[in-house]
Amino acid sequence: QSSVLHKFKGVIFSTMSSEELLNSLDSFEAREDDVFLVSYPKSGTHWIAKIIENIPNARITLTPPIELGDISKFEELKTYCETRVIPTHLSYSMLPMNIKQKQCKIIYVIRNPKDIAVSFFHYYRDNPNLPSIETWHEFFELFLKGDVVYGSWFDHVLSWEEHKNAKNIFIISYEEMKKDPSKNIRKIATFLGLNMTDSEINQIVWKTSFTEMKNNTAKENCDPNHTICALTSNRNLVFRKGAVGDWINYFTSKQKRVFDELFTEKMKHSELAKHFGDYS
Ligand code: A3P
Repeated sequence: QSSVLHKFKGVIFSTMSSEELLNSLDSFEAREDDVFLVSYPKSGTHWIAKIIENIPNARITLTPPIELGDISKFEELKTYCETRVIPTHLSYSMLPMNIKQKQCKIIYVIRNPKDIAVSFFHYYRDNPNLPSIETWHEFFELFLKGDVVYGSWFDHVLSWEEHKNAKNIFIISYEEMKKDPSKNIRKIATFLGLNMTDSEINQIVWKTSFTEMKNNTAKENCDPNHTICALTSNRNLVFRKGAVGDWINYFTSKQKRVFDELFTEKMKHSELAKHFGDYS
């Protein structure tokens, strides 16, 4: 294991999340109006965050991830006056207790795991805060075993799936977003209790398109407080291809078979698995 990683409760974390902070998560004080933007890494978190930020008159502030940094994070999070939108890659079991007790609104972003694996592979390679990986083959094995930051994709999704019918939890998929951004942006706004006109929605579709976001990263990069992923503060690493189905360019037929077998086994009781069926 590399020096940029450590294990906490059996799950690998980046050292950018201090052990002390992870140990103290349950002392986090949630506010009733907090919104949590939750995802396994590479599911499209920055995209959804940008959409939420652009909703007119929402009076929200996007904060850094709850698990990024050290114990001073909780003091820092207290300084926000507006409604906080707090990103996190934590699984359900690690989510601070108070968030569950207060039934804060939670948006959980999902994405086809094969595309996540490919996206994550590039992130490992490009991100100095993650260990170096030589080959796709090497990363594929780690991903299968869940020996990557934030652990197994399967465990993460299944931990959230158990709560998918809770009225404070809204699940949105990367693929649906791609297919029909306007419809899904409206769904996000409605979940947050906000109204938008069609032209406002169209504006957001345009502003949050992959090309637009990628081209604007250079400008936004100057603000280190704008970190959404606890694995980097460099937004340039995030916008790679922005496509559905890129996995086909990486998975060998054997890897596809192995992955599908594991998927069938792990996800046999999963309703969400049906969604991914269309993308494998
Ligand atoms: P790829 O590596 O497949 O391109 P996260 O924000 O959770 O780290 O996820 C990053 C992934 O979302 C990357 O996937 C990135 O390109 C993609 N992404 C970011 N913004 C996007 C957008 N506006 N539209 C589509 N995909 C986007």
